[in-house]
Amino acid sequence: MRLSVIGCGYLGAVHAATMASIGHEVVGIDIDEDRVETLSRGEAPFYEPYLQDLLTAGIQSGRLIFSTDMAEASGAKAHFIAVGTPQQKDGTSADLTYVDAAVDGLLPCLRAGDVVAGKSTVPVGTATRLAPRVEAVGAALVWNPEFLREGWAVKDTIDPDRLVVGIRTGTDGVDGAAAVDVLREVYHPAVAKNTPFIVTDLATAELVKVAANAFLATKISFINAMAEIAEVTGADVTQLADAIGHDARIGRRFLGAGIGFGGGCLPKDIRAFSARAEELGRGESVAFLREVDAINLRRRDRAVDLVVDALGGSVFKKNVTVLGAAFKPYSDDIRDSPALDVAVRLHGLGAWVTVTDPAAIENAQRLHPQLNYVEDRDEALREADAIIMVTEWDEYRRELTPEHAASLARGRVAIDGRNGWDAAAWRAAGWTYYGMGRP
Ligand code: UGA
Repeated sequence: MRLSVIGCGYLGAVHAATMASIGHEVVGIDIDEDRVETLSRGEAPFYEPYLQDLLTAGIQSGRLIFSTDMAEASGAKAHFIAVGTPQQKDGTSADLTYVDAAVDGLLPCLRAGDVVAGKSTVPVGTATRLAPRVEAVGAALVWNPEFLREGWAVKDTIDPDRLVVGIRTGTDGVDGAAAVDVLREVYHPAVAKNTPFIVTDLATAELVKVAANAFLATKISFINAMAEIAEVTGADVTQLADAIGHDARIGRRFLGAGIGFGGGCLPKDIRAFSARAEELGRGESVAFLREVDAINLRRRDRAVDLVVDALGGSVFKKNVTVLGAAFKPYSDDIRDSPALDVAVRLHGLGAWVTVTDPAAIENAQRLHPQLNYVEDRDEALREADAIIMVTEWDEYRRELTPEHAASLARGRVAIDGRNGWDAAAWRAAGWTYYGMGRP
């Protein structure tokens, strides 16, 4: 099928390349000329496992092209809106400028029977507001939220846990069932595997996405709240998480206590959800999300305090090596990265901060040029008075032994911002080990 994907960021570029890999003819459209040029050369503009291979193969096959010209979307049967919905600069709501512009720009390219599928995360009600514009030209608007995780984006797109398609109901002249069939054809490998395919109304589809992210954020903040209690009682939150995680109703995943969540999705999505709920007169229904946000941000303070305390009350002119800058491993994304936030705060307190990361240094350097960046992990560890792991890349979590770290660092203070190290092993190697919510 011929497809267009509007917006080639973390979501759209992966979607375009993945759709080409399962046999579709895809044009990815973005207003950023540099990005389009990079993608057209078959190069991934950001770090995402397997993306590079899919781009190269797609471009070589002739089934994948990128353009800045919206007119290239003409002739496609399904059009995916994958533009960003960032937090507004002067508030907590989602900025829908790019979504509106994408839909308006697409209108002249649409033919009767086309399907416009929104993938961007939007406040509930957005699709219903946009639908009449699309329907005026005889096309259908559906909402098809995306649940991919950065670092696993290709796998999550080809083989998702579920597919959700919201259609407009109760409107004459719009064939929702036909639009759903188009999407079944688009996602043919997942459909063939009997992946749950859930058809809803537009509002439900929009809400499924924000509810899922709100739940995940709440789960992380729940365990981080337990970490706060553990810190004043001498309990160990990692054992607590293991123990409650064995209950299948709770589950161990996303009970990783540490410096908390960041990235381009969870933080802004819970804030936008709260803002939307307020607009709808239901602010109290999700009032807990403000607490979820507050707990999350407190963990960054806690990590900084641990470093300060461990170094005797001041980090001034102390060498602190920060392992990680990306908001999570297997990504170079530094949007709202707790890792980088901790590094910046330590620098603000007068520490000589050295940051290392296998993928995110370039992005981090652009945003925070004041920090010292070292690509080589071992080089970064040299002469450190304290080290803190804030992104659990394998290079730090699994491959760095406490003995090897001790052969490079000057001090023996190890702070485990992700509870990923074996505390006993680090202590045995002579380190003073501090976890998050661990004795
Ligand atoms: C999240 C959701 O997991 C995806 O399903 C969703 O599609 C995506 O947002 C989105 O809305 O586009 P992502 O932002 O890639 O995906 O990252 P996650 O894997 O959810 O991790 C988010 C943050 O939580 C990271 O900073 C991670 O380090 C942190 N985290 C995760 C914890 O602190 N503890 C955990 O146990 C798990």
